[in-house]
Amino acid sequence: MSKPLTIAVFASGSGSNFQAIADAVKAGRLDVRIALLVCDKPQAAVVERAEKEGIPSFVFRPKQFASREEYESEIVHRLKEHNIDLLVLAGYMRLITDTLVRPYYGRMINIHPSLLPAFPGLNAIEQAYEHGAKVTGVTVHYVDGGMDTGPIIAQRALDIREGETLDTLTERIHRLEHELYPEVIQWIREDRVRLDGRRVQRS
Ligand code: GAR
Repeated sequence: MSKPLTIAVFASGSGSNFQAIADAVKAGRLDVRIALLVCDKPQAAVVERAEKEGIPSFVFRPKQFASREEYESEIVHRLKEHNIDLLVLAGYMRLITDTLVRPYYGRMINIHPSLLPAFPGLNAIEQAYEHGAKVTGVTVHYVDGGMDTGPIIAQRALDIREGETLDTLTERIHRLEHELYPEVIQWIREDRVRLDGRRVQRS
């Protein structure tokens, strides 16, 4: 197949999606190389996961930089150093500015735990649950400068069951994320995804 795809995963928290991607690579379901973890929270569990997997990380404290543009410039520098083809945001809880969007638009994707454009932003699973939605799900989309607004690559839905608790819903959403994200990355690796304005086509 064509040249291997080198990815960087961006995360801020527990890193269960990072783990699902790393596991898919190890299981041979996903043919990419995870070259870097980018993390804005030194205490996040994902940092330990990367260490265990032998994946280098760039961990920073946003407060140590004068502005968002400044730490993003440093990130761009690291991405170039590692020849990163695709940026995979997996629970990276920061807005992205032009410093990252400009060089990587169309090569930066995110996963969000709702059916966008419903329930963007923080606590999306809880937002859908509290709203009384009957159906929710997960979305993988290209990243633009907005909050969860970029062109949608894939979505998967699930019913919110009668009497379901927020805990069980959260668990089912995470399971769906862990299935869908490695799958979508593999489509990109196989060059099957085309971005055309707001529309994304898959062959
Ligand atoms: C995931 O549910 C992801 O969809 C969400 O953060 C969680 C990270 O979990 N992202 C967003 O809400 C982005 N707007 P993880 O650290 O266990 O992968």
